[in-house]
Amino acid sequence: VADGPLKGRRVVVTSGPTQEPIDPVRYIANRSSGAQGTAIAAALAGLGAEVVFVTGPADVAPPGGVTVVPVESAREMLAAVEAALPADAAVFAAAVADWRVAEQSGAKIKKQPGGAPPALQFVENPDILAAIARRSAGRPALVVGFAAETDDVIAHATAKRARKGCDWIVANDVSPATGIMGGAENEVTLITADGAETWPRMGKPEVARRLAARIAEALG
Ligand code: C5P
Repeated sequence: VADGPLKGRRVVVTSGPTQEPIDPVRYIANRSSGAQGTAIAAALAGLGAEVVFVTGPADVAPPGGVTVVPVESAREMLAAVEAALPADAAVFAAAVADWRVAEQSGAKIKKQPGGAPPALQFVENPDILAAIARRSAGRPALVVGFAAETDDVIAHATAKRARKGCDWIVANDVSPATGIMGGAENEVTLITADGAETWPRMGKPEVARRLAARIAEALG
């Protein structure tokens, strides 16, 4: 563990997509490279934090110097986060699938020649961020969520902060024209109780370092 302002602090970070199985060979998932969450975990560790990195199947390798907890589904991710508590802060950068298939098939669903495609039923997944932010006991002092929006970024993210009960929201515009999703750069607005603060466009590692520095400041 590195020396730094977060020495002695424990931070849980979620990252990457979740995969929700349909049958043994198929799943539904969100698009997520895991790049921003990985960079945040690395930056927090760089400031001395003990980081538990709960990650779905991401494209980028997890950083060194953190405890990696690999998961697949949203329910596994929630259980892993709960098991990692207590923590001083939690950062929810994962792109969690909102729904899972109601009844996962134990056998591969067969294509019926000339038959109808399967009618999949979905149920809602737990909202991990909201579940942790709204805990009465053992809530991390600082709970940070993300909001990927395509329009009215600040308004939607401010509403999301209130709805989820978290302290901060890191909001970004993921419209295809921005090239942010899967790209190397990010342009974010940090939404706190004090309002919205838009940072200039910068590399994802730089966003991560700035956010980690703010977290260190907030934890004091
Ligand atoms: O509601 P929405 O998915 O836009 O919220 C995004 C934020 O909530 C992110 O921080 C994401 O990691 C978190 N989230 C979660 N569990 C879910 C859905 C979203 O932790 N099931």
